[in-house]
Amino acid sequence: MLKNKNNKAIWNTRIKRKTSTFFQKVGGSLNIDKKLYKEDIIGSIAHVEMLFKQKIISFKVKNKIIYGLNKIEKEISKNKFNFDKSLEDIHMNIEKRLFEIIGNEAGYVHTARSRNDQVITDVKLWMKSANMEINRNLDRLIKSTLKLAEKNIETIMPGFTHLKNAQAISFGHYLMAYIEMFIRDKKRFQHNMESLNENPLGVSALTGTSFNIDRNYTTRKLGFKIPTNNSIDTVSDRDFVLDYLYSCSTCAMHISRISEELIIWNSDAFNLIKLSDKIVTGSSIMPQKKNPDLLEYIRGKTGVMYGNLFSMLTILKGLPLSYFKDLQDDKEIIFKTHDTIINCIKILNEILNNLYPNKKRMLELTNKGYITATDLADYLVKNHEMSFRKAYQKTAEIVNYAEKKSKQLGDLKIDELKKIEPKLKEDVLKVFNLKNSVNSKKSFGGTSFDNVKKMISKYKKII
Ligand code: ARG
Repeated sequence: MLKNKNNKAIWNTRIKRKTSTFFQKVGGSLNIDKKLYKEDIIGSIAHVEMLFKQKIISFKVKNKIIYGLNKIEKEISKNKFNFDKSLEDIHMNIEKRLFEIIGNEAGYVHTARSRNDQVITDVKLWMKSANMEINRNLDRLIKSTLKLAEKNIETIMPGFTHLKNAQAISFGHYLMAYIEMFIRDKKRFQHNMESLNENPLGVSALTGTSFNIDRNYTTRKLGFKIPTNNSIDTVSDRDFVLDYLYSCSTCAMHISRISEELIIWNSDAFNLIKLSDKIVTGSSIMPQKKNPDLLEYIRGKTGVMYGNLFSMLTILKGLPLSYFKDLQDDKEIIFKTHDTIINCIKILNEILNNLYPNKKRMLELTNKGYITATDLADYLVKNHEMSFRKAYQKTAEIVNYAEKKSKQLGDLKIDELKKIEPKLKEDVLKVFNLKNSVNSKKSFGGTSFDNVKKMISKYKKII
């Protein structure tokens, strides 16, 4: 039993030789799963309360165990706990210490449970708060994005497809596109709560138990919604880990998309945004440099996040039921992913608070690349009874002409336009005005200043 004085493993009656010290070192998970000590203790307390309610253990034993567990919680929180790596993991360390504190009655704590259900209970409890922490950080990020969007409703910039000038847009509208992504991310994390709310505790090693336990009781005590349905699936299942890793990967992917764009826009070639000195770094050799390292950091971390998702998928591939040591690696992957996604969200938040659009340059670039050509085609359809395809062709001829003359569409005189399309009148020239162009996109979800304003106030109310 764990109580033995010589620090022998609890299975030493059966297994006569000590595990090789090398395997003890590499096979243990204590350094990773000690993070779960609070959840482990909360889970054990709920478990023994249930055992007492079901008359499986006595009032005295229950109280002694709870006393011991609370003492252990304090010791660990105050860094006064002696962790012993030879005891494999946090569960064994806590159980061993319980024996030291309350004596042999500690032996009742593991009645009707196994480390297999214990560890998933801990992880699920931990992940529920991790999901909420991510969503709180996403809220902050959404607020900063919204603030920047509000300041830039009327900032005109080129909207790109294929990174070529496509149509003029409001910079505010562009930023609001990312808010949609971050809101979807939040929903994904929220949705994951459903499986995280299924209580694994009580399925024991893989079969359930012959003790008359009450899983609904521990479900309520631990804030879960329902007990899991199948004991074998419960100890084998890590789908909730995949959901979490996928959600983090998708969120990181969104963050990497905006990072990539901001890196391009911050380049000397584009020069569309300026980053405050707070969020750039210098070069060891080139004195003039101000590099967007933080943006590159978060773009790169997306690769790490995908790697984590693939690690877990691969660990699960072909793994028979039910528990195998292979599954132990889930926690390292989850914890690393969590720290990384929180950092990425925080960094992007800081970047958005320290980013300034170069409005003059944005407008200059919007004036390039015949960006109002589609507006001209639309004008022809509306005013000269042309089909869109016909209007498209006429406009292309006008663009060809402007290109030949090295002019922008807005520089063309009405007489030049009339040579190509005699029906055109002076008022066509207004379609080349960029503000008119943006504001004409009044369809729901479009980029007109009014639309963007309305969307921003709608989101300000709900976030
Ligand atoms: N440290 C183990 C893990 O995280 C706990 C479960 C151990 N179960 C077992 N049957 N060896 O996977």
